Amino acid sequence: MVNTVLIGKLEQATTPLLVLFTYEDQDSAECKRIDKLLNGQLAALRKAKEFEGKALTVETVRTEDRAFKKLLLVGLGKKKDVTLETLRRAAGTAAKTGRELASELTVPFLSAGKAKGLDVAVQAVAEGLLMGDYRFLKYKTQGLDELKTLKGFTVLVEEKGQVKPAQQGLKRAEVIAGAVNYARDLITTPAGDMGPAVLEAEARKLAKKHSLKLAVFQKEELQKRGMGAILAVGKGSPVTPRMIVLEYKAAGAKKHVAFCGKGVCFDSGGYNIKLHMMEQMKDDMGGAAALLGMLDALATLKAKAHVTVVIGAVENLVSGDAYKPGDVVKASNGKTIEVLNTDAEGRVVLADCLSYASTLKPDTLIDIATLTGAAMIALGTVTGVLTPNDKLAAAVIAAGEETGDRAWRLPLWDDHKEDVKSDLADVKNIGYPMRAGVTAGAVFLQEFVEQPGKWAHLDIGGAVFDDRERPYLPKGATGAGVRLLTRLVERL
Ligand code: BES
Ligand code: ZN
Ligand code: ZN
Repeated sequence: MVNTVLIGKLEQATTPLLVLFTYEDQDSAECKRIDKLLNGQLAALRKAKEFEGKALTVETVRTEDRAFKKLLLVGLGKKKDVTLETLRRAAGTAAKTGRELASELTVPFLSAGKAKGLDVAVQAVAEGLLMGDYRFLKYKTQGLDELKTLKGFTVLVEEKGQVKPAQQGLKRAEVIAGAVNYARDLITTPAGDMGPAVLEAEARKLAKKHSLKLAVFQKEELQKRGMGAILAVGKGSPVTPRMIVLEYKAAGAKKHVAFCGKGVCFDSGGYNIKLHMMEQMKDDMGGAAALLGMLDALATLKAKAHVTVVIGAVENLVSGDAYKPGDVVKASNGKTIEVLNTDAEGRVVLADCLSYASTLKPDTLIDIATLTGAAMIALGTVTGVLTPNDKLAAAVIAAGEETGDRAWRLPLWDDHKEDVKSDLADVKNIGYPMRAGVTAGAVFLQEFVEQPGKWAHLDIGGAVFDDRERPYLPKGATGAGVRLLTRLVERL
């Protein structure tokens, strides 16, 4: 899409589709001014209860003889309840309805909000449009010609002082939404086309694009480093596991933030084979995808940050070589793990990733993983955050709230450590069955973190995928974590 900021008068907007946001309890300034031209046509719609400005409702109005050929009215609900997330959602709906009506659209921002706050408002609307318009068409060969697509949108402002903040908001939205949609592409690509080697190739492409430092530990290197945990999980696949390490460092960055991502390209469950949702398990690399998206955003925005990303790329399959329930494996921090369930493989992979990331002595360490089905039960499509650090928890939740990529805290007390003690080895990879599954995953991971006070675990088991159509999240991979972590790094 090619999107621009234009300065001009609302009434003279020349566009096939003018998008007007308005409220439930009053008309927006944009609506009032356009309605003057239309001799009260919009007020009449409201009076007839055909369009009342309720959140996420839309109405099309034809104005063929004008410079704007059609109007798309989009409701925001009550004015006092409008947040940036309301704008994002309304814009997502506008994109999906709008692309059926025209190939370009114009969204006006009047001086009402002055230049202050305009950048974030434009950003929210542009993010909603760009994420809402997302489609994954790589595997479609039929019906593409009939598909209606948006070629671009125009952000219309009326004052000179608004141009710059509007451009900044638009630019930021393009970067952020681009990163989210990139993560979605990686996740949606079937495991047959997105194995550990392909994920590595994607990381290499990203490293090249942004001149990131890159290291990939292949099988021999993993063996040399004593990374018996990730190696065990990957044993059942002919595609060997690998650890991908990417580093972005801007001049003058002070704090070092390290990230670990679960990159299980397919999770069959192993010998504890999955009886449910196995076809969904291509998205078990959602944590890795979120981190690649975050890196893309941070590097494009030239964020003043120092970030290292460690991805455990592996497939959990069954074969004569696969690891077995009851096996004991050793992670690179020296701790032994009794694998009581081969389907709790993400934490085994992350044991080596976190051990390695700990050796870098980062100021903050965060892992992100589709770790448990329990996260989905507990939080639906919200990300779970677990950390002993109250400040870090608050920062993650705040970044989630600000970006609409929400997270909520779940408990992690020392009492829970009991749950992962093993009779045979140092720890076991499952907790107390059917109880506090998200926390059990986190206490297990904590065993491989050198400084737990600086660490947070993000469980996106429920957040990675949504089979409901959301206003700006079309059904499927959500890109959970990209917006949240990009903002978090900027705020840390
Ligand atoms: N990748 C799954 C978690 C998952 C399941 C995410 C369904 C999203 C939807 C993970 O590897 C897994 O299977 N976890 C087990 C852990 C259990 C055996 C302790 C789970 O959640 O059932
Ligand atoms: Zn599993
Ligand atoms: Zn898994």
